[in-house]
Amino acid sequence: MTGNKVYIVGAGPGDPELLTVKAHRLLVQADLVIYAGSLVNPEILRVCRPDAELVNSATMTMEEVMSMIERAYLEGRKVVRLHSGDPHIYGAIREQMDMLREKGIPYEVVPGVSVLTSAAASLGTELTLEGVSQSILITRGGQRIPLDPREDIRALAQHRSTMVIFAAIHMIERVVRDLVEGGYSPETPVGVVYHSTWPDELVIRGTLQDIVRKVKEARIYRTALIVVGDVVDPKNYRRSKLYDPGYTHSFRRGNSGASRAEESVPAQRDP
Ligand SMILES: C[S@@+](CC[C@H](N)C(=O)[O-])C[C@H]1O[C@@H](n2cnc3c(N)ncnc32)[C@H](O)[C@@H]1O
Repeated sequence: MTGNKVYIVGAGPGDPELLTVKAHRLLVQADLVIYAGSLVNPEILRVCRPDAELVNSATMTMEEVMSMIERAYLEGRKVVRLHSGDPHIYGAIREQMDMLREKGIPYEVVPGVSVLTSAAASLGTELTLEGVSQSILITRGGQRIPLDPREDIRALAQHRSTMVIFAAIHMIERVVRDLVEGGYSPETPVGVVYHSTWPDELVIRGTLQDIVRKVKEARIYRTALIVVGDVVDPKNYRRSKLYDPGYTHSFRRGNSGASRAEESVPAQRDP
């Protein structure tokens, strides 16, 4: 077992080319891959060796997943636990990390491309725009597994920031009602991305007024992300100061040659 460890890996949103180089290498080398079958694109598993054992965890409990991982690890096999997108967002990895630690099994988490960002690419939008919203609220639908009231969609809507809502497309009427009751105007732009980066990806654009009808017409009930806010269809925004010719910072001096790094502008790296 020396040097062996369990890898908890992000598979990205679906397009096999959105695997990280590291995720690709680990999948090529793996003896056992336990993947979240309800979300991971099976095309991604094509890189695995023909003799690798591939197990869909969709019908398993966490205890079953963990005992399979433990057994394989003790046999000295290379194990990948494969999550959709990035495992740090709704990946239930905290409990996996804790269970592995309790069992004395070393592990490493390999981040992936979340649908949070792939859906923004599909929508052709930037989630943070100067003068529109500089914050992103990430939340999920709370129908079957309720959210704490301080985090329910109506409460979060007061901020009118960019909001990205996972696992909520099946309850879009209620989401829209809560967003409007919480503070967004009915004209607020909304984007819905189904199967982001899969070959059958579908992008729906609308406003809080008409998105429910459009989603129903498209018959989308699962595996979609809801992005809400003016960033989806900005009428006005301000240019980023970072590249503004009239603005200097510690990495770029103005024409006068004077750097204002010592003023209140914090040192920033190129985004
Ligand atoms: C348990 S969360 C997993 C999120 C994942 N860890 C990530 O970072 O992308 C599952 C929810 O993510 C969203 N989702 C996952 N993959 C998607 C995709 N390819 N296209 C659109 N939405 C997706 C859906 O809202 C789905 O209900």
